[in-house]
Amino acid sequence: MKKHSEDQEKRISVHTSTPYDVYIRRGSLSDSGSLIAQALRSRRAAVITDDIVGGLYTDTLLKSLSDSDISAGVFTFPHGEQSKSLETLGNIYDFLCSEGITRSDFLIALGGGVVGDITGFAAASFLRGIDFVQIPTTLLAQVDSSVGGKTAIDIKGGKNLVGAFKQPSLVICDSDTLRTLPDEELSCGMAEAIKYGMIRDKELFELIESHDLSSIHEIMDELVYNCISIKRDVVEGDEFDRGERMILNFGHTIGHAIEGWHSYTDYTHGMGVAAGMCMMSERTAPPEITERLKKCVRRYSLPTGTEAPLGELIPFCSMDKKRDSGSISYIVCPEIGRAEIIKTSAAGFEELLLSGKEGE
Ligand code: NAD
Ligand code: GLY
Repeated sequence: MKKHSEDQEKRISVHTSTPYDVYIRRGSLSDSGSLIAQALRSRRAAVITDDIVGGLYTDTLLKSLSDSDISAGVFTFPHGEQSKSLETLGNIYDFLCSEGITRSDFLIALGGGVVGDITGFAAASFLRGIDFVQIPTTLLAQVDSSVGGKTAIDIKGGKNLVGAFKQPSLVICDSDTLRTLPDEELSCGMAEAIKYGMIRDKELFELIESHDLSSIHEIMDELVYNCISIKRDVVEGDEFDRGERMILNFGHTIGHAIEGWHSYTDYTHGMGVAAGMCMMSERTAPPEITERLKKCVRRYSLPTGTEAPLGELIPFCSMDKKRDSGSISYIVCPEIGRAEIIKTSAAGFEELLLSGKEGE
């Protein structure tokens, strides 16, 4: 784990097909105009946000843009996963046309993973690709979805089934914006932070297990910095998700199935990831590792198992993107800080899932 003091430069450079910087600093939303002006030449943007985030942070962003002579129109859609749709995407394209956005202009995603994913996909596809900036305002988006270039929308066939790899030109993480997040959303991001500790960094895991939801804001920049550093290392090694990047999916195969079983309502992605990590650990890791993981997960009000009957989860594993024609890859952590990718048949995975309990 890297120490991250307040006076330290809080910048992570990501060396992917499009290289870019990630700034992690409290209050950086107010400086976003000058950070963007240094990274991009155009002085015209379209801001995409949802109704909740827009109400909280658009004014600060627009003022900062205007201070740097960047003009921007704002497109706002209703918050929630149901907006990550073809319909919203079409509305965004219409808005960009009405604003006269050209190939040399850029988009700004101001919001959580839903805003980031759909804006990224709009940027990947509009005029065959324009630049975009990520300003993530949920913990999940700061530590995971805003970095790495996966963009997507949901279709009737499943979540995230249509998308593209499109790296942002800049990511600005202002941990002050996380102060307005409801606890449930903070927990959701903590599930991903716990995941990073489990797969790569025992010290990070120890930092997380020594805090809880009420004290985590005190170390937020350090937490975000260390999570993004791990994501950067993994993505630089496997930008297009053909191998090592799969370790970021620890807990996700079972987690996605649980989310699907709940029809994605009243059940967050983070709850699925937390339950999925614990259930996978129960089946593959020494009991003392599983117990420590479960204790940490509970500290952040996340579930360690599911009420879904295991047999009913199996159909929801079938659309998982970690599955190819005959096989499925899943991630195990035999110890805290180390992950392994296991490839098996679909039948082998089902047998593994059914070999354990639903958990608590
Ligand atoms: P989200 O974007 O729906 O945000 C959750 C809720 O918090 C929303 O209601 C939003 O309006 C609200 N919110 C956002 N910021 C706020 C703030 N600062 N204060 C108060 N409220 C705020 O959900 P999410 O959890 O950020 O992201 C989930 C999405 O991310 C899913 O669609 C998932 O598929 C995607 N995702 C993508 C990647 C990737 O690599 N691209 C990785 C993980 C998840
Ligand atoms: N969120 C997993 C990945 O970016 O690969």
